[in-house]
Amino acid sequence: MTETESKWHQKNILQVADLTEKELTLLIEEAIVMKEQTKAGIPHLYLQGKTLGMIFEKSSTRTRVSFEVGMTQLGGHALFLSSKDIQLGRGESIADTAKVLSRYVDGLMIRTFGHEIIEEFAENATVPIINGLTNEHHPMQVLADLMTIYEKKGTLKGLNLAYVGDGNNNMPHSLMEGAAIMGMNMTIASPKGYEPLEVILKKAKIKAEQTGATIQFTYDPVEALTNADIVVTDVWTSMGMETEKTERSRHFLPYQVNAKLTHHAKEDFIFLHCLPAHRGEEVTSEVIDGSHSVVFDEAENRLHAQKAVLKKLMGDN
Ligand code: CP
Ligand code: NVA
Repeated sequence: MTETESKWHQKNILQVADLTEKELTLLIEEAIVMKEQTKAGIPHLYLQGKTLGMIFEKSSTRTRVSFEVGMTQLGGHALFLSSKDIQLGRGESIADTAKVLSRYVDGLMIRTFGHEIIEEFAENATVPIINGLTNEHHPMQVLADLMTIYEKKGTLKGLNLAYVGDGNNNMPHSLMEGAAIMGMNMTIASPKGYEPLEVILKKAKIKAEQTGATIQFTYDPVEALTNADIVVTDVWTSMGMETEKTERSRHFLPYQVNAKLTHHAKEDFIFLHCLPAHRGEEVTSEVIDGSHSVVFDEAENRLHAQKAVLKKLMGDN
């Protein structure tokens, strides 16, 4: 095994910033190859005999199914572990859970609440840990988003991405990191009180300076959308924040992605949403079901992008 290959095996992907530009590019390229193989029915059984454990503390459609199907297509197996059903939900410690599961599986995917929970898993596990969403980060979604943008636009560098909605959340944080690393400009527009985490924004701005991009924040959605190649939004009320739904709807209403707002974007803009979406709230049907929307290609790419990750982290390469 070469040095680079052994490094992948020691890797956790807890946030997009855990990856370099070279690694992100490699994963996107590998994902595109595996997408072609999948469509052509060419077997790519890189993970025969390997098992991925998947701990879910929150609901999921795309993440659960794409990881499970991905492992099957790679010749391996995935275990769905709802935290309600394993001893973790009855108070067994994160450290003990991570140590025990590491004795059985070859990798662990975790969807949980605070990012510190997945960091504690990573500190105690001896197999690679993949973040399947925390309150603060959603790296697997953004890997699929970058792949989708690359497929549709042929490049990432120099494009303008506008994110409108809850700035203090997993999607804008991970998009900021990805955009900065890949040299893509990004503007986030959110209402007062929903700004991105300062530490993530600051780091992304510094990274962007090195890659020739800009990462900006504004309270004005029109400013964010002006000249955008890519328009992205996400739900106003993320998982775990349900008690704030009414208050949030009031604050976010001027940030709805609708035909009037997207008029400010470039003529050939593409619309992305990680899904699930709430039509009539963060986005209107005319946008998400319109000709600029690529949300179902984006959802499909979760499968291909994650297979590239699984191959790198768990395979013999
Ligand atoms: N986009 C995404 O992560 O979807 P799920 O919540 O259905 O997994
Ligand atoms: N921001 C959303 C993403 C869902 C995939 C949430 O955390 O609920």
